[in-house]
Amino acid sequence: MMNYKGGVGKTTLTANIAAEMAKTGMEVLLVDLDPQANLTLSFISIEQWQNLDRLERTVKHWYDAYLDKDEDMSLKDLIISPPMVNSRLDTDPESGRIDLICSHLELINVDMELSSRLGGNTDRTIRSNYLRVLTRLKNKLDEIKGEYDVIIIDCPPNFNLITQNAIVASDFYIVPAKADYLSTLGINTLIRHVEELKRKFNQYSRQSNDPDTSTISPHMLGVIFTMVSYRNQQPISAQSDYINQIKRDRHCFTNFLRESKTIFAHAPESGIPVVLQRKNEQQELICKEVNGMVNEIFMLSNLS
Ligand SMILES: Nc1ncnc2c1ncn2[C@@H]1O[C@H](COP(=O)(O)OP(=O)(O)O)[C@@H](O)[C@H]1O
Ligand SMILES: [Mg+2]
Repeated sequence: MMNYKGGVGKTTLTANIAAEMAKTGMEVLLVDLDPQANLTLSFISIEQWQNLDRLERTVKHWYDAYLDKDEDMSLKDLIISPPMVNSRLDTDPESGRIDLICSHLELINVDMELSSRLGGNTDRTIRSNYLRVLTRLKNKLDEIKGEYDVIIIDCPPNFNLITQNAIVASDFYIVPAKADYLSTLGINTLIRHVEELKRKFNQYSRQSNDPDTSTISPHMLGVIFTMVSYRNQQPISAQSDYINQIKRDRHCFTNFLRESKTIFAHAPESGIPVVLQRKNEQQELICKEVNGMVNEIFMLSNLS
């Protein structure tokens, strides 16, 4: 899940899509790569998070192990099972589960340190340093991906090396977006940057003699519109104009996530995404939307 812009509803969408997938029986791993750690804090309490910090079990510590000590730590040691959401899922025997790799506020510094690992004196070292830094996450996720039906990464709102690590590791990406002027402006730039990354990575990969490096083809599944406001069952015209504009250039999901301040504001505190909460009429509508999105993801990706 990625978008340059923050506040577009990306984390909310990630949590709910994960919960909906787990509801249908899937084993889901969530990876929070945003230093703001909103996804992490949508599933565990601040105290639990502080405890993981003390135990050095966040994705920041995993990058640190590599940067400080060249240590090849497995991602397995970071995985936790968030209690609230999983005990809710456990009430239905058909359900799967959600595991989580937590973020850390200081992940922001990791980006700078990763950049210092790039470069070199010869073309060969530049290439091999680039590939080593960029495939860091992919290589380690490859070791554990067999244990999950799907892994969903919540990216930070930028295109720094951590985001690039996520793209290199991903088969697909989704761009959650608000239907407004500034949000729509960024989408084409974002997709262009992914294409440039892909081209450079694959060029280096082909030139390298390392049998462990392969080419990548992260595929854009589509744009998902969030915080959509309705009037007479239609998105308000201020938003539908932007939706239609993007639809001309890019694949967009037919299901949108509606705007609902009252429902989404408290969900993170409860540790349980909206689609798994007890339902009123408004929540039913949200469930339907997220369920529709998950079906679209299955269809577009042949995941199910
Ligand atoms: N569909 C929605 N309707 C209303 N408020 C929302 C919706 N989605 C997210 N929000 C709220 O908007 C804010 C930003 O959402 P978040 O998911 O954290 O965005 P991002 O990850 O893109 O920064 C949060 O306060 C969240 O509760
Ligand atoms: Mg977020």
